[in-house]
Amino acid sequence: MFHLMYKFMDSMQRLAQDAADKLNLTPAEMAELLAKSNLPVIFVLGGPGSGKGTQCEKLVAKYGFTHLSSGDLLRAEVESGSDLGKQIKDTMEAGDLVPLETVLRLLREAMITSLETSKGFLIDGYPREVEQAVKFEEQVCPCTLVIYFELSDEVMTQRLMKRGETSGRVDDNEETIKKRLQTFHEHSQPVVCHYEQRCKTINAERSVDEIFEDVCKEVDNLKCGEQPAAE
Ligand code: AP5
Repeated sequence: MFHLMYKFMDSMQRLAQDAADKLNLTPAEMAELLAKSNLPVIFVLGGPGSGKGTQCEKLVAKYGFTHLSSGDLLRAEVESGSDLGKQIKDTMEAGDLVPLETVLRLLREAMITSLETSKGFLIDGYPREVEQAVKFEEQVCPCTLVIYFELSDEVMTQRLMKRGETSGRVDDNEETIKKRLQTFHEHSQPVVCHYEQRCKTINAERSVDEIFEDVCKEVDNLKCGEQPAAE
């Protein structure tokens, strides 16, 4: 019994050490590891409340991808109570974008940590500006596919106001939702044009299952070997 317990603790320590060692790699070394892995990297884009998280959850269940939401990574940093977390909280509360380097570092580290077991990455809510896209491809790896959920501001607002009744999220209130939509149109929508060739636009003003059917078609095309065109 004790023997098994020590063996378990030993392997947990080794795993923790491996993760720590990987995080000590330089950004260039991390990028090399990620590029070599040749795993699909799918950017999931859309305005606030467009259903990115909902669809990613279903994709994880069907394809076993690793889901990394930039918003969730930032909220985890806020929860940690760190000084960085305090700055991030103010930015999120205002509906503005958190500085690029912060988001990119959190994403890169999360990708490296799950690299060995991953079947591919769903990057939810990143890139939110063209510069984030450029830096990711320079410093991490190329993205394979971009999925963009298209819907009206009215529907996004309705969904978020409804969610705000129970979510407890500091940004699910009328004033911040307006600012999030404005930030989205100003900074994030140009990313869709940037990825014209690799981007698949999906009508997200339908039921969750109807949307998911279209999302799966795009993912299955990738699995059938359809090569994304470079921009
Ligand atoms: P983030 O957490 O990414 O929030 P968001 O983009 O505003 O999107 P949400 O998570 O609110 O919505 P979602 O699209 O995932 O929709 P969901 O599936 O939950 O970012 C928050 C903040 O962090 C940003 O404002 C920014 O400050 C910062 N940040 C994040 N990433 C950053 C980056 N890259 N750079 C800089 N800063 C960054 O669905 C919403 C609701 O609708 C749910 O209640 C759901 O049940 C419902 N719903 C979903 N689909 C449907 C459907 N088809 N029909 C009816 N209801 C539906």
